Amino acid sequence: MRTPLTDLLGIQYPILLPGMSWISTPPLVAAVSQAGGLGILATGPLTPPQTRAAIAEIRALTDKPFGIGCTLLMPGARENAEVALEERVPVINFSLGKGEWLVPRCHAYGGKVIATVTTVRHARSAQRSGVDALLVTGHEAAAHGGEVTSLVLVPTIADAVELPVIAGGGFADGRGLLAALTLGAAGVAMGSRLATTRESPLHATVKQTIIEKSADDTVYSPHFDGLPARYMKTPTALRLTRQPMSFWRSALQATQAARLVGQPVGKILLGLLTRIEQVKLLTYFGAAVPRLRAATEAGDLEYGMQFIGQVQGLIQDVPTVQDVFERILSEVCQAHRRTGEYL
Ligand SMILES: Cc1cc2nc3c(=O)[nH]c(=O)nc-3n(C[C@H](O)[C@H](O)[C@H](O)COP(=O)(O)O)c2cc1C
Repeated sequence: MRTPLTDLLGIQYPILLPGMSWISTPPLVAAVSQAGGLGILATGPLTPPQTRAAIAEIRALTDKPFGIGCTLLMPGARENAEVALEERVPVINFSLGKGEWLVPRCHAYGGKVIATVTTVRHARSAQRSGVDALLVTGHEAAAHGGEVTSLVLVPTIADAVELPVIAGGGFADGRGLLAALTLGAAGVAMGSRLATTRESPLHATVKQTIIEKSADDTVYSPHFDGLPARYMKTPTALRLTRQPMSFWRSALQATQAARLVGQPVGKILLGLLTRIEQVKLLTYFGAAVPRLRAATEAGDLEYGMQFIGQVQGLIQDVPTVQDVFERILSEVCQAHRRTGEYL
């Protein structure tokens, strides 16, 4: 396939693996890039030395282009982005924060920058900052998709900017990819689909549960990690999203989580006194970590919480990444032929 996105990134399929904590790890990132897409390393849970080691691991597994994801709101994200710049990572994807400082430095070595956005306002502002493409995440998405569905958000943003748009949220097969291209996108990001592949480190119990659940078995709520996000519907998810966690409880849990990933607890406490809104959000994020990790890594859906998109209703198996891509290509051709017959 050839689209403005494959040309921009030098890839074969216009399909990205987005950054997913504990899932978009070197083996899966390399598998996606090696199969012709673009794998993006999730750095949320990584310290800068771990990020550097992960980049080396990806490079040992593939010589194809890959990316690194930085959720700029998170502590340590800026330092991880610095590592990506030093290592001349081909693609840097930033979200939840201002990343314009990255752009000239990444361009200086020929790298590309992708901004993740969920509104037209943010899309326009990212375009002004000089990024090369936008990842537009609609309401159907796992985790932090926007308020507006991909069906409406993608063409709205594609009309508002001159950059290649990558549609995320609700795409799991060739029909979805063709639909995204029709809406004005130049490619798609597939989170839920690529998390449910053989190469993905997502726990086998969760992969099996995704197959069993349907499209309406998700919950979208701001009450768990502090931002509106989509989770697998389980008794625990229903209970924990009923109302916001008390701030002091989340502060306690966040400091415990910060200790686990080696972040300075003092920073959180100091921040509480100065930048209250931002730190409040960080605190909720931090408090969410143990439950998110328990689901993804240990398959514990009783204590754990699992991000998942509505496309879980379309996921029926656990193929290899290569199989997913080959299947998608044939589905795109089929869907194109079928819709052509209507004209
Ligand atoms: C299991 C899983 C874990 C995810 N973890 C994160 C994460 O840690 N940070 C993040 O910004 N997005 C995360 N996402 C969201 C993806 O980056 C992406 O936006 C989303 O999956 C796209 O929607 P889709 O699932 O319909 O393809 C996660 C998605 C899944 C399926």
